[in-house]
Amino acid sequence: MHPMAKPKILVTRKLPDAVEARLAQNYDATFNPNDIPMSAAELLVAMQDFDALVPTVSDLLDSRVLRVEARSVRMIANVGVGYSNIDTETAQGAGISVSNTPDVLTDATADIAILLILSATRRAYAAERDLRDGRWAGFSVVESLGRGIQNKVLGIIGMGRIGRATAHRAALGFGMDVVFYNRSPVTDLGFDAKQLDSIDTVMAASDVVSVHVPGGGANPLITANHIAQMKPSAYLVNTARGDSIDQTALIDALVDGRIAGAGLDVFAHEPSVPDVLCEMENVTLLPHIGSATQEVRTAMGMLAADNLDAFFSGDVLPSRVV
Ligand code: 8YV
Repeated sequence: MHPMAKPKILVTRKLPDAVEARLAQNYDATFNPNDIPMSAAELLVAMQDFDALVPTVSDLLDSRVLRVEARSVRMIANVGVGYSNIDTETAQGAGISVSNTPDVLTDATADIAILLILSATRRAYAAERDLRDGRWAGFSVVESLGRGIQNKVLGIIGMGRIGRATAHRAALGFGMDVVFYNRSPVTDLGFDAKQLDSIDTVMAASDVVSVHVPGGGANPLITANHIAQMKPSAYLVNTARGDSIDQTALIDALVDGRIAGAGLDVFAHEPSVPDVLCEMENVTLLPHIGSATQEVRTAMGMLAADNLDAFFSGDVLPSRVV
């Protein structure tokens, strides 16, 4: 009797060694050792050649790719909690299962939100750049002054897992007063936080706004009108997705001095970052590193592998999206 053929999987980007070793053992796995992002044409062909894909944020699996003729892929185990790179409605209609990697990256991403809050309010980027460029003339009582965050209002937009973890740190670790907007009522936080009834009221009340809503919709959830509600002294932090907010409106607000600064880990058209942002000294820019720790990236890969294993054994997926 022939042993059952191992499912054929494509891992679109390089994953941590331990994850690749596990996948190589259990699957007929194709890896991407050079870690070069795959083109749409390559993804189309892959949809006809493999049983499952293990993609990530850089792989656009839109309806054209998912609806390709003679498709063989039945399972997509996305490495990432966000899945705005995948047209999940089309996947569902086509009977393709999709999973993501929640929870394991919550703390790491909340840490980066806090890092950006502190960096923006304390002007860390401008101060460090001055030092590295040899412009530090020595200690001054009145130079490089930022704004303190204690007793200031942090507005969280989207009180999901990462929003909560960020608010928890800000409230209990940094003494911030938290207000938030969430579509459904949230009651069980375990620290003081006030739910407000609209995005506008949170934007208007906050000294720092931290965005934790998904991207991938037809339009950004945080619009120019929302940004227009912010105080001129307020900062905006985004660790969600570049298209969770209207990036052009954010840039306009920064250029016009209608807000005080920003901290951004995500951008609308990654890896492209508008020059105008790069030139601003009141903005901290990070290259999408919310979950970028060795521990977390391995845990994300392992959770994607758990989902694959469950799919091919006919078990319940640990983190099914559709
Ligand atoms: C990921 C993220 O590392 O998980 C997410 O949604 O934004 C990041 O933490 C990246 O998107 C990989 O998919």
